[in-house]
Amino acid sequence: MSAAPPFIVGIGGSTRAGSSGERIVRCVLEETEALGATTRMFGGPELAALPHFCPEDPARSDAQSDFVDAVRQADGLVIGSPGYHGGVSGLVKNALDLLEDLRDDRRVYFSERPVGLVVVAAGWQACGITLQALRGIVHAMRGWPTPIGVTVNTVEQAVFDVDGTVKDPSVRASCTAQAQQIYWLAQQVRASWQDHPGSS
Ligand SMILES: Cc1cc2nc3c(=O)[nH]c(=O)nc-3n(C[C@H](O)[C@H](O)[C@H](O)COP(=O)(O)O)c2cc1C
Repeated sequence: MSAAPPFIVGIGGSTRAGSSGERIVRCVLEETEALGATTRMFGGPELAALPHFCPEDPARSDAQSDFVDAVRQADGLVIGSPGYHGGVSGLVKNALDLLEDLRDDRRVYFSERPVGLVVVAAGWQACGITLQALRGIVHAMRGWPTPIGVTVNTVEQAVFDVDGTVKDPSVRASCTAQAQQIYWLAQQVRASWQDHPGSS
């Protein structure tokens, strides 16, 4: 097993101050850190700094290049979106579309990487539909959605403490379980690179 800790990238949230989606993604990242991972978060402000993706324009801003490079280096990911009008928010989808830049990598898009998914919405229907949509996106981008998806109904559940940490034990348990699944698969993949260095 490789000594280098897995590197996990978090993507998600909204531009809203105190975004619940961003807080949940951060919670999953923190749980992977507790297992030994290193992490990097791209929350609402970082995603808002990404220009509208234009496939016909190869120019990239520093923020776009930084984001693509981080995902390229990642051993695993956490992606979170609010349910907006029954689907993934434009802010999150714009960032995912930019990852078209990984199409010619050996590890195309999310290949060989576990991807934990988080959805927050004002109702369970949008939670389920948006989680399913995110799973479809990750499949299209050749990633491995973890069996555990974290969904939070922000109307029914009092999830956060005053400092923004997750206080709901069932939501915390889901974040922990998802983090364990991400960490486990990321470690397996890292170990396989060490066993077969030519394949990385
Ligand atoms: C433009 C917009 C569309 C929304 N559409 C839905 C929806 O279709 N279904 C739903 O349950 N909640 C919907 N919501 C509510 C958000 O999903 C919910 O408030 C969520 O917690 C926001 O995430 P955040 O706290 O990370 O900003 C919508 C909110 C906005 C701003």
